Parts: sequence; C-alpha cells; structure tokens
Amino acid sequence: MRDEPVLQGFHLTRSFGDGETRTYALRDVSLGLKKGELALLMGPSGSGKSTLLAVLSGLLEPDSGQVLARVDGDAVDLWKLTPRQREHFRLKHCGFIFQGYNLFPALTAEQQLEIVLRWGEGISGREARERSREMLSLLGLSKKCHLLPAQLSGGEKQRVAIGRALIKNPQFVFADEPTSALDWTHGEQVIELLRIAAHERGATILVVSHDHRIVPFVDTVFHLEDGRLQEAETPVDVPPPGVRFRLEMPP
Ligand SMILES: Nc1ncnc2c1ncn2[C@@H]1O[C@H](COP(=O)(O)OP(=O)(O)OP(=O)(O)O)[C@@H](O)[C@H]1O
Ligand SMILES: [Mg+2]
Repeated sequence: MRDEPVLQGFHLTRSFGDGETRTYALRDVSLGLKKGELALLMGPSGSGKSTLLAVLSGLLEPDSGQVLARVDGDAVDLWKLTPRQREHFRLKHCGFIFQGYNLFPALTAEQQLEIVLRWGEGISGREARERSREMLSLLGLSKKCHLLPAQLSGGEKQRVAIGRALIKNPQFVFADEPTSALDWTHGEQVIELLRIAAHERGATILVVSHDHRIVPFVDTVFHLEDGRLQEAETPVDVPPPGVRFRLEMPP
C-alpha cells in the first residue's frame, strides 16, 4: 500500500515579486509522498512551508517544476491541467485545513461538514447529517453541532475545519498548522484522526507544523530552510520521500 509515491514534486521553484524585491519561497524542491503516508513539514517561519503546500495541492502555480499526482492508477500532471480540471481534481480528491480555518460564517458546525457530503459527493441529507455528527463527535464537538463559527472558540473552529477536510475521505489531505490553536489533548486527537485517515484509509497527508510533539506520530519529517529541503543528497531524477527519519509506530 505504501510503495510507490502518489504525490511528487520535481524541482519546484516559486518566487514572489521581481527585481530587487524578488524573494524565493521555494528553491528547487523535489519530494515524494506515498499512499498511506503521514508526513510532517517543518521549518522556520517564512521558510516556504505554506507555499510548498499550496504548490503541491494545485492552489499556487510554481515558477518552474512539476507536480505529479496518482489517483486510481492515473498519473495527473497538476500544473498541466486547465484551471477548471485542477479545481475538479481538488474538489474530488483533496481535503484542506488552512492556517485560518475558512469556515462559512452563516453555517453551523454540523452544516459545514454536511455541505461537503451533500453538494460535493451527492450524499442524502440524512446520511450527511449522521456522518457529520459522527465526525464532530470524534473531534469532541458533539455538543457544539448547532453553533456558528462566531460562537466557537479558536480551537473548536480548528477542529470543525479538520472534520470538514476529512469527512469525504479524500485521497490527499493538506493541513497547515492543524493543531496550532489546540491544547495537547485535542492536538493528539487530531493527529490520531490524521493517522487513521492515512494508515487505515490510505490517504496521503502532508501536515505543516512547528509542534515537535507531533514528530513521534508521523511516518516522515521534511525540513524546509529558506526555501530548500534539507536533503542535499536527494537524487534529482528519482525523488524518494526525502526522509530525514522515519518512525514506525507500533500497531
Ligand atoms: N503572496 C505573497 N507575496 C509576497 N511574498 C510572499 C507571498 N506569500 C509568501 N511570500 C513570501 O514567501 C516566503 C515563504 O512564505 P510561506 O508563507 O510559505 O512561509 P511559511 O514557512 O509557511 O511561514 P509560517 O511558518 O510563518 O507560516 C516568505 O518570505 C513570504 O514573505
Ligand atoms: Mg505558513
């Protein structure tokens, strides 16, 4: 299940601005993630982590380089797709947890998850509600189903955003600082959910975080420093996972 990379970035470079103000957020980054892999991306503020997540997930076009994704046996060259095809790919196969939650202000916690299933996946109202409640309950939010984002704490909003990203069992999950607003009890629950999504459902998950407590729970840790991955020895043509260290958790 975890052999071949299903998400690969090749020589990704991305800059912002031009002339004297030009800054390179990514410099020649190559990496690969396998099916069922939970990977952590670490690095100082401004090192390019969010930029890499956005480039790999089809949200931000690189200056140069290539992103290949494999789903259901097909390889997709993400940045060769039309914007519409890319959007379709993201909707169908990707779940996102953004640094700033991005919840709909007018929807309750439960409705935030329900709409993903109803409009994205065509699942009936009743089943969508049941699955949404089940997910919120796993996240410790049973009693908050009917509250709007404005009535939720930061950590509760964050957990709703995580539930929304995982509810449709996406093939790829991109999570930017998913535990930043959580105490460790809730942070650990979230990591456990991500681990289940990866190891039991075969999702490929890339988590950006500064939180070292997550390290023992993940399969792979990537380090970015000033736009470069810290694996100088990574072969250029066949990007392996770029593993700095890999920890297998006991079953
Ligand atoms: N839209 C933008 N316009 C100009 N510069 C940008 C833009 N987005 C990112 N950058 C620059 O690219 C670099 C990398 O930014 P990025 O957001 O990827 O960092 P990060 O590692 O996610 O940091 P943090 O841990 O603070 O979230 C930074 O120097 C940032 O200023
Ligand atoms: Mg960031």
